[in-house]
Amino acid sequence: MDSSFLIKQAIEAQGQAYAPYSRFRVGAALLCADGSIYTGCNVENAAYSAANCAERTAVFKAVSEGRRRFLAIAIAGNLEGRENERELCAPCGVCRQVLSEFSDGDLRVILARSETKYEEYTLKELLPLQFSRNNLQ
Ligand code: THU
Repeated sequence: MDSSFLIKQAIEAQGQAYAPYSRFRVGAALLCADGSIYTGCNVENAAYSAANCAERTAVFKAVSEGRRRFLAIAIAGNLEGRENERELCAPCGVCRQVLSEFSDGDLRVILARSETKYEEYTLKELLPLQFSRNNLQ
Protein backbone atom coordinates (compact mmCIF):
# COMPACT_ATOMS: atom_id res chain seq x y z
CA MET A 1 0.00 0.00 0.00
CA ASP A 2 1.20 3.44 -0.98
CA SER A 3 2.23 5.47 2.11
CA SER A 4 0.60 8.60 0.75
CA PHE A 5 -2.86 7.02 0.71
CA LEU A 6 -2.60 6.05 4.37
CA ILE A 7 -1.16 9.45 5.29
CA LYS A 8 -4.09 11.19 3.62
CA GLN A 9 -6.49 9.17 5.78
CA ALA A 10 -4.52 9.98 8.95
CA ILE A 11 -4.59 13.70 8.18
CA GLU A 12 -8.32 13.51 7.53
CA ALA A 13 -8.85 11.70 10.85
CA GLN A 14 -6.83 14.41 12.58
CA GLY A 15 -9.69 16.73 11.73
CA GLN A 16 -11.88 14.79 14.18
CA ALA A 17 -9.44 15.10 17.10
CA TYR A 18 -11.06 16.14 20.35
CA ALA A 19 -8.17 17.87 22.10
CA PRO A 20 -9.49 20.95 23.92
CA TYR A 21 -6.99 20.55 26.79
CA SER A 22 -3.64 19.86 25.14
CA ARG A 23 -4.52 21.42 21.76
CA PHE A 24 -2.34 18.63 20.33
CA ARG A 25 -4.41 17.07 17.56
CA VAL A 26 -3.58 13.57 16.30
CA GLY A 27 -4.99 11.34 13.57
CA ALA A 28 -4.05 7.77 12.70
CA ALA A 29 -4.86 5.39 9.86
CA LEU A 30 -4.30 1.68 10.36
CA LEU A 31 -3.92 -0.75 7.47
CA CYS A 32 -5.13 -4.26 8.32
CA ALA A 33 -3.90 -7.52 6.77
CA ASP A 34 -7.15 -7.88 4.78
CA GLY A 35 -6.67 -4.44 3.21
CA SER A 36 -9.23 -2.62 5.32
CA ILE A 37 -8.31 0.70 6.93
CA TYR A 38 -9.43 1.99 10.31
CA THR A 39 -8.86 5.58 11.35
CA GLY A 40 -8.77 7.16 14.79
CA CYS A 41 -8.17 10.45 16.56
CA ASN A 42 -7.24 11.39 20.11
CA VAL A 43 -10.18 11.87 22.44
CA GLU A 44 -9.41 13.89 25.58
CA ASN A 45 -11.38 14.35 28.76
CA ALA A 46 -11.68 16.92 31.56
CA ALA A 47 -10.31 14.15 33.78
CA TYR A 48 -7.03 14.16 31.87
CA SER A 49 -6.04 10.53 32.42
CA ALA A 50 -9.20 9.36 30.65
CA ALA A 51 -7.80 10.55 27.29
CA ASN A 52 -7.25 8.06 24.47
CA CYS A 53 -4.57 8.40 21.80
CA ALA A 54 -5.39 8.37 18.10
CA GLU A 55 -3.44 5.16 17.50
CA ARG A 56 -5.31 3.23 20.17
CA THR A 57 -8.64 4.57 18.96
CA ALA A 58 -7.83 3.11 15.52
CA VAL A 59 -6.61 -0.21 16.95
CA PHE A 60 -9.63 -0.64 19.20
CA LYS A 61 -12.02 0.18 16.36
CA ALA A 62 -10.32 -2.42 14.17
CA VAL A 63 -10.15 -5.17 16.79
CA SER A 64 -13.76 -4.59 17.81
CA GLU A 65 -14.71 -5.26 14.20
CA GLY A 66 -12.74 -8.48 13.93
CA ARG A 67 -9.36 -7.31 12.55
CA ARG A 68 -6.35 -8.62 14.41
CA ARG A 69 -3.40 -8.34 12.04
CA PHE A 70 -1.99 -4.98 11.08
CA LEU A 71 0.54 -4.09 8.40
CA ALA A 72 1.03 -0.34 8.69
CA ILE A 73 -0.08 2.76 10.56
CA ALA A 74 0.24 6.39 9.54
CA ILE A 75 0.22 9.03 12.28
CA ALA A 76 -0.19 12.79 11.91
CA GLY A 77 -0.04 15.01 14.98
CA ASN A 78 0.75 18.60 15.86
CA LEU A 79 -0.20 21.44 18.14
CA GLU A 80 -3.01 23.57 16.78
CA GLY A 81 -1.63 26.32 14.59
CA ARG A 82 1.65 24.49 13.95
CA GLU A 83 0.52 22.56 10.89
CA ASN A 84 3.46 23.70 8.82
CA GLU A 85 6.30 22.79 11.16
CA ARG A 86 8.52 19.81 10.51
CA GLU A 87 8.42 17.92 13.80
CA LEU A 88 6.91 14.45 13.60
CA CYS A 89 4.57 12.84 16.11
CA ALA A 90 5.84 9.45 17.27
CA PRO A 91 3.50 7.06 19.09
CA CYS A 92 3.65 7.00 22.89
CA GLY A 93 4.96 3.92 24.70
CA VAL A 94 1.51 2.59 25.53
CA CYS A 95 0.43 2.77 21.88
CA ARG A 96 3.64 1.00 20.78
CA GLN A 97 2.83 -1.82 23.18
CA VAL A 98 -0.81 -2.02 22.01
CA LEU A 99 0.31 -2.11 18.36
CA SER A 100 2.77 -4.91 19.17
CA GLU A 101 -0.06 -7.16 20.36
CA PHE A 102 -1.49 -7.33 16.82
CA SER A 103 1.57 -6.98 14.61
CA ASP A 104 4.95 -8.44 14.15
CA GLY A 105 8.08 -6.36 14.40
CA ASP A 106 7.96 -5.27 10.79
CA LEU A 107 4.74 -3.26 11.15
CA ARG A 108 5.40 -0.05 9.20
CA VAL A 109 4.98 3.07 11.32
CA ILE A 110 4.71 6.15 9.15
CA LEU A 111 5.19 9.48 10.94
CA ALA A 112 3.77 12.13 8.67
CA ARG A 113 3.55 15.88 8.26
CA SER A 114 2.11 15.65 4.79
CA GLU A 115 1.75 13.15 1.97
CA THR A 116 5.29 13.96 0.89
CA LYS A 117 6.99 14.78 4.21
CA TYR A 118 7.22 11.69 6.36
CA GLU A 119 9.56 9.18 7.96
CA GLU A 120 8.99 5.47 8.12
CA TYR A 121 10.12 3.09 10.87
CA THR A 122 9.38 -0.49 11.82
CA LEU A 123 7.70 -1.24 15.13
CA LYS A 124 10.80 -3.25 16.07
CA GLU A 125 12.88 -0.08 15.76
CA LEU A 126 10.48 1.84 18.00
CA LEU A 127 9.91 -0.99 20.51
CA PRO A 128 12.93 -3.25 20.88
CA LEU A 129 12.81 -6.04 23.49
CA GLN A 130 9.04 -5.96 23.62
CA PHE A 131 7.05 -7.80 26.25
CA SER A 132 4.73 -10.21 24.45
CA ARG A 133 2.57 -13.29 24.80
CA ASN A 134 5.79 -15.35 24.51
CA ASN A 135 6.75 -14.14 27.97
CA LEU A 136 3.61 -15.70 29.38
CA GLN A 137 4.19 -19.22 28.07
N1 THU B 1 -1.39 11.67 21.55
C1 THU B 1 -1.82 10.82 20.59
O1 THU B 1 -3.03 10.73 20.29
N2 THU B 1 -0.90 10.07 19.95
C2 THU B 1 0.44 10.18 20.12
O2 THU B 1 1.20 9.50 19.44
C3 THU B 1 0.98 11.12 21.11
C4 THU B 1 -0.01 11.78 21.98
C5 THU B 1 -2.39 12.55 22.20
C6 THU B 1 -2.72 12.25 23.62
C7 THU B 1 -3.22 13.59 24.10
O3 THU B 1 -4.57 13.75 23.73
C8 THU B 1 -2.41 14.59 23.30
O4 THU B 1 -1.91 13.88 22.19
C9 THU B 1 -1.26 15.23 24.06
O5 THU B 1 -0.48 14.27 24.68
